[in-house]
Parts: sequence; C-alpha cells; structure tokens
Amino acid sequence: MTDLTGSRRTTAPAVSAAKGSDTPLVMVTAYDAPSARAVDAAGVDMILVGDSVAMVVLGYDDTLHVTIDDLAHHTAAVARAKPRALVVADLPWMSYHVSREETVRNAAQLVRAGATAVKLEGGRKRLDAVHAILDAEIPVMGHLGLTPQSVHALGGFRVQGKTLDAARIIVDDAVALAEAGCFAVVLECVPDAVARMVTDSIAVPTIGIGAGRHCDGQVLVYHDLLGIECRVAPKFVRRYADVHAQSVAALEQFADDVRAGRFPASGETYHAADAVTEALGLYGSSEHVPA
Ligand code: KIV
Repeated sequence: MTDLTGSRRTTAPAVSAAKGSDTPLVMVTAYDAPSARAVDAAGVDMILVGDSVAMVVLGYDDTLHVTIDDLAHHTAAVARAKPRALVVADLPWMSYHVSREETVRNAAQLVRAGATAVKLEGGRKRLDAVHAILDAEIPVMGHLGLTPQSVHALGGFRVQGKTLDAARIIVDDAVALAEAGCFAVVLECVPDAVARMVTDSIAVPTIGIGAGRHCDGQVLVYHDLLGIECRVAPKFVRRYADVHAQSVAALEQFADDVRAGRFPASGETYHAADAVTEALGLYGSSEHVPA
C-alpha cells in the first residue's frame, strides 16, 4: 500500500493475504528508534513492540510489570523511525481484561502512539476484547500457546499443547480468533505438530516462536537474536550475533584508552586557531595530545 507520503508500508490486510505464500513472513521485536531502524533496514515484514520490553530492556523477571503507558512510550519511539514494516504493539497485562471500554481506549492509545495493529494474548476467553477492538477498526493479532502474561497461571514459562486435549484447545482457540477477524496469530512454544495443525486449520498466517517450521512466519526477540540478552538461552533462539560480548570488549577498550591517555586523540579534538591558542598563552604548555 502507498501512503500519503508515497512510501510503501506493510498493512495488516497484506500480512493476512500472505497466508499460503511460499515465502514465510518475518517479524522481529523492537522497542526504540535505533532498533526499529535496524530491523526495518533488514527488510522484515512486521515490527513487534512486545511487552518483552519488560524483560529484555527494563530488567523485570516477567512481562506483568509494564503498563499501557510504557508500551505507548516504546511504540512512539519505534514509530518515529517511520518503518516500512507493519508496527504491531502489544496490549500489556490488565489492559484488556477489565471492560470493553478500557480495552478500546488502551488499543487506541497504542494506535495514537504509532502502532498500526495491536496484539493480545489468549483464545476464546478474549473474544470480547478482540471484537471490541476490531469494532474500533483496529487490526488485532492473536497470541496462543505459551502466553507469558499467564506465567503464574501456567506455573512458569513452559511449552504448551503437549497433550492431545491441550493441543485441541489451542487449535480451537486459533480457529475462534481467526474467525473473529484476527489478521494473524502468534504461536509460542508449542510442539511443531500442533503448530502445523493450527496453520492448516486457519485462514490467516501463524507466526511461530518456538513452534517449529510449519508456521506461515517466524518471530524472534531482537535482544535474543542479536545476543544482547545472553543470560538465558531458550532452545528456539538462534543467535546471529554476539553483540553483548562485542559491546563489553569495545567498552573495555574505551576505558583502557582513557586510562592510558590514548583518548581523545588530536583528530577527535576541537582546536582553536593558532592566534587564539597563542593569545590564551597555551603555546609551550605541556600538552600531550597524540596525533
Ligand atoms: O512480547 C513479545 O516479544 C512477544 C513475542 C515473544 C511474540 O510477544
């Protein structure tokens, strides 16, 4: 779709229409303008401003601590990068659980911050919320399987859908979300056979994380993919860089250079004109500025 500025931006209907395409969809999280610029420059289809920001940026142990204001703040930073990718923002815990009115107001806050679509967790028991947001003309992405906002109810961050009954519940929830009008559904930490069953059962794309190959797309968290977050290593994460180790090495080098007087060098310094330096009486002073 071409917008008023002439740029081609990915839309929720375009993502939905990619179901069944030979090329899987790609989604990566981002939480600020630099990460959004990097993800967009890499040509991904969707940027997720995930509530994982709580864990990988803000230092919490789970996602329950972030509020709608936190998500709006990070969504606005991502939107300022003007990405071509579709910006999907997470509705955080308790922002869509209380009433339809509050749900719509919170979804609207994310759209006003710059999101084009919102994501929420849960299946049939969240259909009211899904309908309310869709009625307000805001595209909704579903999220099933390991839903981190239910961490206490689930008893931890565990693979879901391992029994036949549990798998059936996920498939039925996915069908309900798709029929309600969700434009895509994230499947997190479910066996690949369950993801395949869901993918074959719904008319909109499944986006997997820890759900194997049989999804219509894949998502990873920016900090996991780049090795910025390396304290935990879930089995499903493939690290494409070791940015944490590279950062520590670069910072150590900077500290060494400062302590050894190697930084700043002359080329990294503003110099006044000779006449000014002379008038300041600085010639002949003991300057040690390496070239
Ligand atoms: O918040 C997040 O990053 C997510 C992904 C794991 C899908 O919901």
